[in-house]
Amino acid sequence: ENTQLKDIIAHAKEYGFVYPSSEIYDGLQAVYDYGAYGVELKNNLKRLWWETMTRLNDNIVGIDAAIFMHPTTWKASGHVDSFNDPMIDNKDSKKRYRADVLIEEKAAQYEKEGDKERAQNLLNAMARLLEAEDLAAVRELIINEGITCPISGTSNWTEVRQFNLMFSTQVGSVAEDASTIYLRPETAQGIFVNFLNVQKTARMKVPFGIAQIGKAFRNEIVARQFIFRMREFEQMEMQFFVRPGSELDWYKQWAETRMRWHKALGIPEQKLRRHDHEKLAHYANAAMDIEFEFPFGFKEVEGIHSRTDFDLKSHQEYSKKKQQYFDPEINQNYIPFVIETSIGADRLFLMTLCNAFVDEEVEGKQRTYLKFHPAIAPVKAAILPLTKKDGLPEKAQEIVENLKYDFNIIYEEAASIGKRYTRQDLIGTPFCIAVDHQTLEDNTVTIRHRDTTEQERVAISELHSRLTEACSF
Ligand code: GAP
Repeated sequence: ENTQLKDIIAHAKEYGFVYPSSEIYDGLQAVYDYGAYGVELKNNLKRLWWETMTRLNDNIVGIDAAIFMHPTTWKASGHVDSFNDPMIDNKDSKKRYRADVLIEEKAAQYEKEGDKERAQNLLNAMARLLEAEDLAAVRELIINEGITCPISGTSNWTEVRQFNLMFSTQVGSVAEDASTIYLRPETAQGIFVNFLNVQKTARMKVPFGIAQIGKAFRNEIVARQFIFRMREFEQMEMQFFVRPGSELDWYKQWAETRMRWHKALGIPEQKLRRHDHEKLAHYANAAMDIEFEFPFGFKEVEGIHSRTDFDLKSHQEYSKKKQQYFDPEINQNYIPFVIETSIGADRLFLMTLCNAFVDEEVEGKQRTYLKFHPAIAPVKAAILPLTKKDGLPEKAQEIVENLKYDFNIIYEEAASIGKRYTRQDLIGTPFCIAVDHQTLEDNTVTIRHRDTTEQERVAISELHSRLTEACSF
């Protein structure tokens, strides 16, 4: 892993953002816990997504569906039969790899060496073989390309097998008719199966959307790059139901809207990229990713897919319940087409953290801080009495009382003021508010700005409106 990512992972752990899950037992691969500041940042990101989706669009409403669903859901969605990764084991190291990732890494190596054509040919060959489900030939390709196991260094490979990514468990008592159910691998299906419930009870008219935030689970074989690819993660998905034939216009519109959202979050334009899919899943007639330049390269943060009527149609077939909508404007019944926007809350978190992480040298001194947009910063302001006596702590507490109902505030009186500023920089607090002796005389305080370290004198009565303005999105 590259050094910048390593620094970010270490920082996230040291300053209360992200820890490996059950760390005292040496962790659990690809599962992570969020700490005191991490949970605040993640909640802020989720709230921002939720509000821009549901509150700013009068034709989008939310739901919160269960993680467990009737097992037939996953037959209908295609996940039981085709939500697979091709995997291969090295017989010497006993390590398991994704066959497609091994080949992609080889192609990346060719590209790095300047042989773009060879890289592209290799990727095309792999795509053809996977499409034809010729797994024996995928193994041949790996051997012919001289791909070796990074651990053992040998090319002693097993056959390639398809590995379903869904976790399963049993519901019901073992003795009776226990049956296998899955932990949902995407939140989207909870929306599809509730399409008519929501449409009728919230009295929605096409075009309209349903938004949801919730956990999803995938038994990822390649678990690397910190919280980029996890086995338990959170998705924020919105399914937008439209009239058949209008889907590509809506697709274009949502692609632009979502890109604007990322920029408003403070992500610089040059770190964002749109990647249009050439090869489409069987249910899609257009698909693209919004990619961010992570320390390990440009990678997908959000997917926008035109899913046609595939899901609703398939649920209609399997459930034998009509999934049609009567459109009063054109006097017709139809199964709506769907545009989906799908983003991982954890991946959005990682993007935000990577983008905010600044480790720079100023006048020969190293300075590390997190330059979050104030709207998403875990703590908005730290209230710091200059000393522990002369009534300064009491005055500072009064300010805390005034602000704490609307903002996440920290009060701290231990250590020198410089040390306290540094500590707030490390967790990305945009404003430090220092209370000194002058405060007792004229009711003004010093605001110290995180990014510039500049200070200014402000009346206490102005603090609330200053924070409100800075924290708006
Ligand atoms: N309903 C469509 C869907 O699930 P996807 O491209 O498989 O599409 C959508 O996933 C988003 O979910 C991705 O762009 C990513 O942000 C997030 N995501 C997917 N798998 C993930 C994983 N293993 N760990 C973290 N985030 C993941």
